Amino acid sequence: MAFTFVIIFGAPFLPTLKQQVPKALDLIDLQAGQTLLELGSGDGRILIAAVERELKVVGYELNPFLVLYSWLRTRKYGSQVKVVWGNFWHKKLPPTDGIFVFLLQPYMHKLDIKIMQECSKPVKLVSFAFTIPDKKPTKKRGGLYRYDYK
Ligand SMILES: C[S@@+](CC[C@H](N)C(=O)[O-])C[C@H]1O[C@@H](n2cnc3c(N)ncnc32)[C@H](O)[C@@H]1O
Repeated sequence: MAFTFVIIFGAPFLPTLKQQVPKALDLIDLQAGQTLLELGSGDGRILIAAVERELKVVGYELNPFLVLYSWLRTRKYGSQVKVVWGNFWHKKLPPTDGIFVFLLQPYMHKLDIKIMQECSKPVKLVSFAFTIPDKKPTKKRGGLYRYDYK
């Protein structure tokens, strides 16, 4: 149940392919100490790869099983990783330098508006597979799209 009902909020659980994870982090190009927010953090694979690059990471995830699983996987990194159980549409985005998402196409316009309304400093968004309608990506690579918000 928990794995299917989330489709009405954003996307079902389908993890980013392992070989795409380093490509996504290369594309977002954050520096050590900067913060990456993942909206729908799944099993935590992006969070782990990002914290291994010395980023601070925050993941929001709706599915409680995935929250527990990713919390268990990331707890050794202490305060560098935070996994929050909840619907990110109902949370104000915390200050961040980058955002990673793998959602569904119908949610990308809503996400664009949320970022423009809530992010007070420049932020880079990388989306796997889906694009922001009517917005040209700054960069793209193998199914990953980057958008820069000033
Ligand atoms: C396609 S999966 C991607 C998982 C992970 N980001 C990755 O790339 O491996 C989408 C994830 O977003 C979660 N999700 C969907 N809508 C959400 C929402 N509104 N709030 C929090 N999590 C959500 C789902 O439970 C699922 O784990």
